[in-house]
Amino acid sequence: MIMDSNYEYTSQDIFHIPLSFEEIKKKTEAYILNTYSRLPVCFFFGQGPYLYDSQQKSYIDFLSGISVNNLGYGEADLIEAIRSQADRIIHSSNLFYSEEQALLAETLIHYSFAGKVFFCNSGTEANEAAIKLSRKYGLERKEGADIIVSLERSFHGRTIGALSITGNEKVRKGFGFLLPNVEIIPPTIDALEKIFETKGSEICALFLEPIQGEGGVHPLSKEFLSRARELTEQTKSLLVFDEIQCGIGRTGSLFAFQYYNIIPDVVTLAKGLANGIPIGAMIVKEDFTDVFTPGSHGSTFGGNHLACRVAYETLKILITREILDNVSALSEFFFRRLYQMKARYSIIKEIRGVGLMIGIELNRPCKDVVFKCLQNGLVVNCTAETVIRLLPPLILDLEVANEGLDRLERAIAEID
Ligand SMILES: Cc1ncc(COP(=O)(O)O)c(C=O)c1O
Repeated sequence: MIMDSNYEYTSQDIFHIPLSFEEIKKKTEAYILNTYSRLPVCFFFGQGPYLYDSQQKSYIDFLSGISVNNLGYGEADLIEAIRSQADRIIHSSNLFYSEEQALLAETLIHYSFAGKVFFCNSGTEANEAAIKLSRKYGLERKEGADIIVSLERSFHGRTIGALSITGNEKVRKGFGFLLPNVEIIPPTIDALEKIFETKGSEICALFLEPIQGEGGVHPLSKEFLSRARELTEQTKSLLVFDEIQCGIGRTGSLFAFQYYNIIPDVVTLAKGLANGIPIGAMIVKEDFTDVFTPGSHGSTFGGNHLACRVAYETLKILITREILDNVSALSEFFFRRLYQMKARYSIIKEIRGVGLMIGIELNRPCKDVVFKCLQNGLVVNCTAETVIRLLPPLILDLEVANEGLDRLERAIAEID
């Protein structure tokens, strides 16, 4: 039996499911568009860093729903916030004021930099907002500058705007014309200097992920980000940090820009912001807050009462329980053990990452390792085909981390 302070979970909670896995799979294949290649598991219960599937098996979660469930599962205060907010009001619309939205915005600004926030529902929407802001800024304040620069290996989302600035041909192709005036450059200082030298006056914004996630967990260097800040400042272009995957505590700092100590003009957030309730946000530095005016942008659901209350509660828990201190200690532990594994197994080419955003690059596709891990009771993910991505919940303790790493090592050893 698993317990938290509010609720006693019985084995029925954990193991009761009306449909068998085969039935779920069959219905999924019959009725849901085939846009995902899913692993053969259906989770229906989670507690702390553990997940349970429909076959009554438990797993250690090293993925957090792709950097979403940073506080793990079943967090009592979060559940209480969801329950009490749902009792009161879930949605009214942005035609009216919202206490929850005001409090969340104030909190985000308090812990980032002076400015204002726009709320939406997902990462791609946060980037759409930032694309529109950048273009409007360039057109109105920089003599029509409308070029957006982004980086190879980047991922910014799947809507047409965010896709247009995504540096991955595989996900871009097949949809006809994407946004014009986008320059995708290699993530090198040389390429950065060259584009700003040749087109600086036409560039409205540079978008980047401080740690490229989908592209295979590639942290950008401090030197690269410093040069990006200098060049955008010199040319009066906006510097946009997409912290959708690497923000909200993953680096051990609340925001990735704080880890690097470089302040951008715009930060986009989503994923972990409300620990699983959909929300996106764009934080805009005070110099640029009047680019958007009433009617420039909007969203029906964006920042509704429930999402904002849960995001506020998530930030409160992260900050007041000093969970970020845990990230640095855990990160050291992960890296130490992973470097030991690298020395033992020749299939491991490189270990990369910051905090609890870690990539293990193999010398072959990593799908088989992911399958073996699942068999061993560990959830990890494969990105960029050859990189095992670890995004464990930030509340993990050393003992569970160690057990999870043992399971990972067993999977790697079997394949090596
Ligand atoms: C860095 C980054 N930006 C944007 C997105 C898109 O977010 P969403 O899937 O919520 O639209 C993702 C999702 O993986 C991401 O990792």
